[in-house]
Amino acid sequence: MLSTHSRFVGTGYYVPERIVTNHELSEVMDTSDEWIVERTGIRQRRWVPEGMTGAEMARRASMMALTDGDLVPADIDAIVLGTLSPDHFFPGTGVFLQRALGLEGVPCLDLRAQCSGFVYGLSVADAWIRSGQYETVLVVGVEIQSTGLDMSTRGRDMAVLFGDGAGAAVLQATQNENQGILTTRIHADGRHAEILWAEAASSSHHPRIDAKMIEEGRHFPTMEGKEVFRHAVTRMPEAVLEVLGENGLEPDDIDLLIPHQANLRISQMVQRRLGLSDEKVFNNIEKYGNTTAATIPIALAEAVREGLVNRGDLVCMVAFGSGFTWGASLVRW
Ligand code: ACO
Repeated sequence: MLSTHSRFVGTGYYVPERIVTNHELSEVMDTSDEWIVERTGIRQRRWVPEGMTGAEMARRASMMALTDGDLVPADIDAIVLGTLSPDHFFPGTGVFLQRALGLEGVPCLDLRAQCSGFVYGLSVADAWIRSGQYETVLVVGVEIQSTGLDMSTRGRDMAVLFGDGAGAAVLQATQNENQGILTTRIHADGRHAEILWAEAASSSHHPRIDAKMIEEGRHFPTMEGKEVFRHAVTRMPEAVLEVLGENGLEPDDIDLLIPHQANLRISQMVQRRLGLSDEKVFNNIEKYGNTTAATIPIALAEAVREGLVNRGDLVCMVAFGSGFTWGASLVRW
């Protein structure tokens, strides 16, 4: 009997219209275009206008993915949504997306795996599909970072990195052994949780946030950048080699690597460690910055539209982020 697994039937993305250049940031904090480009590769990012929600960006990305797959919302059996910036403390953004798509009754799972949210989402969706529980699953990564960053010089190490956006993919059951997700592997190491985190609002504080915490900036995300960098350039190649190895494949077999877009220097080091040529690694961080759970699905959707992903290609997506969390997914397109 042929085994069931999932294949990608549609991809989509949405980024806000407003472009924020490095120069614009240098007008509100002590930074420069030169510093940001040299250290991160980022030239600009997108920010949401007042009132735009994560659920609305997710809806737009999802509709593009559905249209791409010649599907309609009613075809979706389940939603998995990754974000570290939910529209509200609760309920998760998934139900707001579900409501906007008119899918009453369809289950929504919100994932809190930060930059690894989309790869974690692929793992869940593929497992559901392999088990026969659902046939068509929408996987979304969405992030609004701009409303949560410290835009003063105090927060410049974080503020210049992040942007807003959403990406989506529709996975569907297939028995075609020459197409679809081969393997997804995900990991975490909570010993490093506070190296990259937002301490407040916190349910262990009473009240969850107060004026003093805000004054001290404890509601802004903080990061030990060098530590994150060091772990990322180790864990990402490791995860790629893990999924390749399980399939008897080598880095050279990869047609396109889509790394999480945290910093161009991280992607370049991962590329070097895997011995891949430039045309085998997709980067769009210069346009969007780090959109966290959304970077990989946005990049995937763009790569598809640029003709860089073709039927039969071996595509690998790899993520690393706060938690720490990391993982990779290997796909025969
Ligand atoms: N503009 C100008 N100067 C800056 C800025 C800025 N935006 N940010 C920091 N600096 C300064 C620092 O204050 C420091 O000054 P000092 O030497 O006088 O103390 C100097 O630049 C060097 O700072 P470093 O932190 O050593 O710079 P580094 O080369 O490590 O780059 C960076 C910092 C870009 C943040 C890098 O460490 C990095 O990219 N880390 C990984 C980020 C990442 O991957 N995050 C994970 C994903 S996010 C998620 O999962 C939510």
